[in-house]
Amino acid sequence: MKESHPADPIGQNLIKFISNVCFSVFVFSVLIFTVIAITYQPPDPWESSRTLTKVFTEVENATFQTDTSVLKTGEDISATPVGSPEPITEATIDKSEEGLNTVASKSGCEDVAVVNCSDPRVLTAIQRFNLNTFKAIAFLEYQAPVNGSKPDECDVSWRFRNKKEKSWRKYRDFRRFKMGFTDDCAYKVVRPGRWHSGVNARRPKIRVNPSTGNERTKIVPAIMDDDINDTIPVLPSDSAFRNGRYLYYSRGGDYCKGMNQYLWSFLCALGEAQYLNRTFVMDLSICLASTYTQTHKDEEGKDFRFYFDFEHLKEVASIVEEAEFLKDWKRWDKSHGMKIPVRKVASYKVTPMQLKRDKNTVIWRQFDTPEPENYWYRVCEGPAAKYIERPWQALWKSKRLMNIVSAISGSMDWDFDAVHVVRGEKAQNKEMWPHLDADTSPDAIVSKLQGIIEPWRNLYIATNEPFYNYFDKLRSHYKVHLLDDYSHLWGNTSEWYNETTNLNGGQTVEFDGYMRVEVDTEVLYRAKTRVETFYNLTKDCKNGINTCETG
Ligand SMILES: *[C@@H]1O[C@H](CO)[C@@H](O)[C@H](O)[C@H]1NC(C)=O
Ligand SMILES: *[C@@H]1O[C@H](CO)[C@@H](O)[C@H](O)[C@H]1NC(C)=O
Ligand SMILES: *[C@@H]1O[C@H](CO)[C@@H](O)[C@H](O)[C@H]1NC(C)=O
Ligand SMILES: *[C@@H]1O[C@H](CO)[C@@H](O)[C@H](O)[C@H]1NC(C)=O
Ligand SMILES: *[C@@H]1O[C@H](CO)[C@@H](O)[C@H](O)[C@H]1NC(C)=O
Ligand SMILES: *[C@@H]1O[C@H](CO)[C@@H](O)[C@H](O)[C@H]1NC(C)=O
Ligand SMILES: *[C@@H]1O[C@H](CO)[C@@H](O)[C@H](O)[C@H]1NC(C)=O
Ligand SMILES: *[C@@H]1O[C@H](CO)[C@@H](O)[C@H](O)[C@H]1NC(C)=O
Repeated sequence: MKESHPADPIGQNLIKFISNVCFSVFVFSVLIFTVIAITYQPPDPWESSRTLTKVFTEVENATFQTDTSVLKTGEDISATPVGSPEPITEATIDKSEEGLNTVASKSGCEDVAVVNCSDPRVLTAIQRFNLNTFKAIAFLEYQAPVNGSKPDECDVSWRFRNKKEKSWRKYRDFRRFKMGFTDDCAYKVVRPGRWHSGVNARRPKIRVNPSTGNERTKIVPAIMDDDINDTIPVLPSDSAFRNGRYLYYSRGGDYCKGMNQYLWSFLCALGEAQYLNRTFVMDLSICLASTYTQTHKDEEGKDFRFYFDFEHLKEVASIVEEAEFLKDWKRWDKSHGMKIPVRKVASYKVTPMQLKRDKNTVIWRQFDTPEPENYWYRVCEGPAAKYIERPWQALWKSKRLMNIVSAISGSMDWDFDAVHVVRGEKAQNKEMWPHLDADTSPDAIVSKLQGIIEPWRNLYIATNEPFYNYFDKLRSHYKVHLLDDYSHLWGNTSEWYNETTNLNGGQTVEFDGYMRVEVDTEVLYRAKTRVETFYNLTKDCKNGINTCETG
């Protein structure tokens, strides 16, 4: 019943729960009710996630199987992007060209050999080209083109959003275009450059001294990427501290459990804070379970911001960072000669509803009891489940990781298909998955994919198969891409490496198993045609023999 291989990208299927009185055996996997497919075939969770938020809040007594799949987060779930600028369309390009037509007919043919990157018509030609070439992308803002390295080259930078991503988060690309002229002397794109090739158009970065977030000095923002501000917020003042209302959770038994349990618990806590109209005191330091680490041991001291988007979280939820909070608390007690009112809560059995009227500055849940009494998420069980909603929208994946996802998809020009190949321990467990091993053999995959995916397409393989050459047979049919082909994106010359090292106070950060799975899964999600292991490659059930019906 275990599935605990490192880097197991299994699942877009969120979490598997098992309700069981003794809490040692667990059952149950995600349910999604779409209107359409409730027969025998579990609907594809990627597509039907809109209702998930609701479904999750209705699950009681959840406990976690060792589950290494990646949870869907807010950017996968939210129905409509909020506050997204209007993407550029043919109509907007036409409009920006209106004033230029006269110029075009005059100067165009006279100096036909000269490409002038500052000419607005260069930009409109590139915009039109992009619009027709990259259909999966919504283009948002362009910077004026600048010279490339040769006279007929122009570098352009723009922001975009992948249409498959539901958040309004924007990414940046900058490419080098070789320009030329059409017969009627208008500009045209002769050849587009590769992902991030237009280095002259890349905006200089704002670099400020990094603050590790530990010292509470005057705000020293550490902005590495001009798009990411995930510095730790500083509480404004003493009196504001006293007037605030806080919900503080001590570490519980969830610490060092799987990432999905962490999230399930964290979102319960955040949900309780929202229900109580309190600021949640958040410990940004998390413990990565051994299934995801290179050492195969639990590793403490991982920063929440390695995996998730803290900037978004602090924008949409009321939180303070634990160390900041404790410092303020101590200082307040000292300087005022009296203690701030605290309500200590020993057991999860004290429900959020009972705390609703509590006026103490701090409500401190302590979780000192033995497992499984000390799991945070137990606060949200039972009757509380009806009152507390987990704020799934507050949780997005780290933008630094999503930049890697964009780089991988972008380097294939968003024109790729993908196959998800789950192997690892499941493939070895013939009792639970009798056909999986054979159905995911290279030969079986080749014969299955033919007829689904055209020859010589870009084929991204998301997999937990550790042997890189395992898929070599597919290389005589497709242009095969594996996550490890992109290791330069997190290697020691990469942006990701620079930024995470800075975030981590100068210590380098390992690109660990959970990050791998996050990236692998998100790239898979961006494919044009996606072939899944379960129900596409094999008839075995995702959760073991005879579990297909429960989906
Ligand atoms: C959850 O647990 C409580 C007691 O621990 C039990 O009464 C209740 O039936 C359980 N709910 C579910 C859905 O199993
Ligand atoms: C290039 O185009 C810009 C804007 O139209 C114009 O101001 C500039 O003089 C042009 N440069 C050359 C060398 O033609
Ligand atoms: C761009 O290149 C053109 C010639 O190709 C040159 O006249 C112009 O000064 C260059 N612009 C900049 C900003 O270097
Ligand atoms: C980063 O965000 C914090 C709030 O969390 C804000 O106080 C700070 O000014 C921001 N820094 C920049 C450079 O935008
Ligand atoms: C929530 O708390 C804030 C101050 O902490 C207060 O201004 C607001 O009225 C409260 N809202 C509700 C619904 O209790
Ligand atoms: C980066 O890694 C390579 C090999 O992994 C190593 O040879 C090189 O010295 C490293 N560079 C830095 C700056 O750490
Ligand atoms: C990373 O930082 C080093 C030193 O600060 C710098 O030399 C290098 O260019 C940076 N790399 C990237 C991709 O930003
Ligand atoms: C994978 O299986 C599902 C369910 O049977 C089906 O709807 C989907 O079309 C299949 N995908 C491909 C690429 O064959």
